[in-house]
Amino acid sequence: MYRKVTVLSLIVLFGLLSGTVFASDGAALYKAKCATCHGPDGSGGTPMGKSLKVRDLRSDAVQKQTDIELTKVISGGKGKMPPYGKQLSDPDIAAIIAFIRTLKAK
Ligand code: HEC
Repeated sequence: MYRKVTVLSLIVLFGLLSGTVFASDGAALYKAKCATCHGPDGSGGTPMGKSLKVRDLRSDAVQKQTDIELTKVISGGKGKMPPYGKQLSDPDIAAIIAFIRTLKAK
C-alpha cells in the first residue's frame, strides 16, 4: 500500500514537472514541422496534404491508434510521411501527440 502511494505520487510529480520545467510545446512543434502537410487543424486540407492524400488526424482512424502506434509513425515515418526520430526527442513527440489528441475534440 505504502509503495503504491509512493509510486503514484512520483508519477503525479513527474507529470507536473514535465508540464512546467521540461515543457515541450507540442502545438508550436506541430505548427513548425507538421502543419505544411497535415494542416494547422490536422485536417490535411493543405495543398501538400491533398497531394499526398494524408488522413485527417482528427478522424477515428487516426485517433483510435495508441500513443505508441502514433509515436512509431512520427519517429520512423510511414510511406511518404518523413521520419522525425532524429529531429525530435521523445518528449517532443509525446507533446505533439498530446496536441493531436486535442484536435479531436474540436
Ligand atoms: C511531407 C509531408 C508530411 C509532413 C511534414 C508530416 N507528415 Fe505525417 N504523414 C504524411 C503522409 C503522406 C502520411 C500518410 C502515410 C501513409 O499512411 O502512407 C502521414 C501520416 C501521419 C500519421 C499517421 C496517420 C494515419 O494515417 O494513420 C501521423 C500520426 C502523422 N503523419 C503525424 C505527423 C506529425 C506529428 C508530423 C510532424 C512532426 C508530420 N506528420 C509531418 C505526410 C507528412
